Amino acid sequence: MIKIVEVGPRDGLQNETALVPAGAKVAFVDALSETGVSEIEVSAFVSPRMIPQLRDATAVFQRIRRKKGVIYSALVPNIKGFENAIAADVEKIAVFTAASETFNQKNINTTVDGSLDRFRPVVKQAGKLGLPVRGYISTAFWCAFEGKIAPGPVVELTQRMMDMGIDEISISDTIGKATPEDVARLLDALLPKVPADRLAVHFHDTYGRGIANVLKSVSYGIGVVDASTGGLGGCPFAPGATGNVSTEAVVAALTQAGQTVNVDIKGLVRALKFLDPYLLAKPPALPSPESLACSTCEF
Ligand code: HMG
Ligand code: MG
Repeated sequence: MIKIVEVGPRDGLQNETALVPAGAKVAFVDALSETGVSEIEVSAFVSPRMIPQLRDATAVFQRIRRKKGVIYSALVPNIKGFENAIAADVEKIAVFTAASETFNQKNINTTVDGSLDRFRPVVKQAGKLGLPVRGYISTAFWCAFEGKIAPGPVVELTQRMMDMGIDEISISDTIGKATPEDVARLLDALLPKVPADRLAVHFHDTYGRGIANVLKSVSYGIGVVDASTGGLGGCPFAPGATGNVSTEAVVAALTQAGQTVNVDIKGLVRALKFLDPYLLAKPPALPSPESLACSTCEF
């Protein structure tokens, strides 16, 4: 069975210009809990100056209705975030770094090595509490600032993170530029060194290749797929990044490919309705006849 990690409430909402009220986020998460997804990344305990959209992480965690069998996780960048997450009863944490130094600086204000130094005490504390830890590797294929990323450094970073005690590594295509060939190249390099059951994949869908990349990953034995209902998402510090591959599309494609997913697509659509008033693009206002009469245009 393929496990779906629903990242809409975190990755999806962090990139929205509208500030969605906590009540709507709670309703979204509660509805997602009924769909069969294995895990919901509910929010992030990060600097509210960096991501004001998720500044209500504690309030949202306090109000969601937890369903047995679903894991409710959150992003944690440092020990301060970890303490806040523990106080909010987070069940799994996700630390995050990147293969690209430039993106790391812009996203978390430190180097790759610096990020691992920050994670070490977080992972240690999580271990003492028996909390599972995910680690994201952003820009695993392409970086908006540094271009193409070679598989070698991603393999090395994955191993360093696993050696630190991180349970699961989510290989992330932050700007959605990977092709299935890129995915194959990286997995060919990773899988001789890292067991497939310690990996997840996280594709943004900027170029419409998210589904092809998910299918390629699953053909390599990857069993955990991140996705965002409605295809919401993107990182504000990665220029050009658009939404994650949509959960509805992932479930449909995997099911059609003969995989067992056990997620209710209609339930996902129902969950998204709770965000309708805040997110759905309004049709653009029709231009006035005056604005159409362009005296300087030559065509
Ligand atoms: P910094 O400025 O280096 O941190 O930020 P600092 O330790 O120097 O502290 C500066 C201020 O932030 C202080 O407040 C701290 O208290 C506060 P002040 O004294 O100035 O009032 N602070 C915090 N507040 C709340 N929670 C915290 C926290 N830590 C410090 N945990 C930091 C470093 C990592 C905190 C910052 O850069 C940050 O929050 N970055 C997060 C950026 C982010 O969330 N990006 C999006 C998520 S990553 C992503 O989307 C990629 C992913 O989807 C995979 C993919 O697609 O690639 C996962
Ligand atoms: Mg992402």
